[in-house]
Amino acid sequence: MKELLEKLTSAFGPSGYESRVRDLILETIKNDIDEYRIDALGNLITRKGTRKANGKRIMVSAHMDEIGLMVTHVDEQGFAYVTNLGGVRPLNLMSNRVVFADGTEGMLCARDMEPGKIPALDQYFVDTGASSRKSCKVKIGDPAVFVGRFVDMGDRRMSKTMDDRIGCLIAIEALKALKDSPHEVRFVFSVQEEVGLRGAKTSAYSVDPEIGIALDVTLCNDTPGLTERNLKFGAGPCIKAKDGSLVGTPWLNNALYDAAERAGIPYQVEVLRGAGTDAGAISLTRSGVPSSVISVACRYVHTPSEMVDVSDVKQAIQLLVEFLSKEIK
Ligand code: CO
Ligand code: ZN
Repeated sequence: MKELLEKLTSAFGPSGYESRVRDLILETIKNDIDEYRIDALGNLITRKGTRKANGKRIMVSAHMDEIGLMVTHVDEQGFAYVTNLGGVRPLNLMSNRVVFADGTEGMLCARDMEPGKIPALDQYFVDTGASSRKSCKVKIGDPAVFVGRFVDMGDRRMSKTMDDRIGCLIAIEALKALKDSPHEVRFVFSVQEEVGLRGAKTSAYSVDPEIGIALDVTLCNDTPGLTERNLKFGAGPCIKAKDGSLVGTPWLNNALYDAAERAGIPYQVEVLRGAGTDAGAISLTRSGVPSSVISVACRYVHTPSEMVDVSDVKQAIQLLVEFLSKEIK
């Protein structure tokens, strides 16, 4: 599991450029699924099992894309200016390294730096070591992601892109472990979540599920200085009551709480003031889909050093497998 997570998090896959992540996932799961297809936007839509008399068609979605940057222009000296692909905060950019699809690395800096002030996103440029526009290897439209090496910290793991390769890992492990389910489970590895839940929107339309579950990270607020203290490391997977895109369907959440109790694992009820996940898009598909999220508390979300707790991840897999194995009442 550790090796797979390292591979998943290391893969390059900003929104709209998920093919390397998709190839890796497909290679990993192709013997464990009954069918798959890749849709026009690039979503990997799989099927595991068939719908029995008491079963449902369930879509389980984890997004493959990661936040990134895109070059807006390269100046005459060879500095590449950037804009955001997804929820990149200017605060988290300063002095970080980024890497482009061809392996070119660069350092992020900003012009007009005033002491004590965070530069606006349009002030940031990437220095790839080029000495002119002509010799700069990156050009307008090239996407980049953070450099953030995978680190095994014992009980915890740190890397770029735990958001949402950890969701991809949970889906992969659950689909490998799932046996004898009454449900038709559509594991979807979605694209373009970070730019507005776009892949989940089109994939949910074609899957036409009766229940939607997203797998994603959520904000772990157990570090110093945070006012809300409702989610912490080591207290089990989180079940979504609310975020900016979704109110978790109450009867579905009750079914998830029951599954956690049957599996003998702890869980946390998650309330977020904002943000969103694929479940928000799934819930508004066609005439509406009861939806919720199994999330993993993550520290330092949308930085190059996102951190998760190993026991939370293992229990999220257990919760999902238990939920998908039994009839839902
Ligand atoms: Co995110
Ligand atoms: Zn995410």
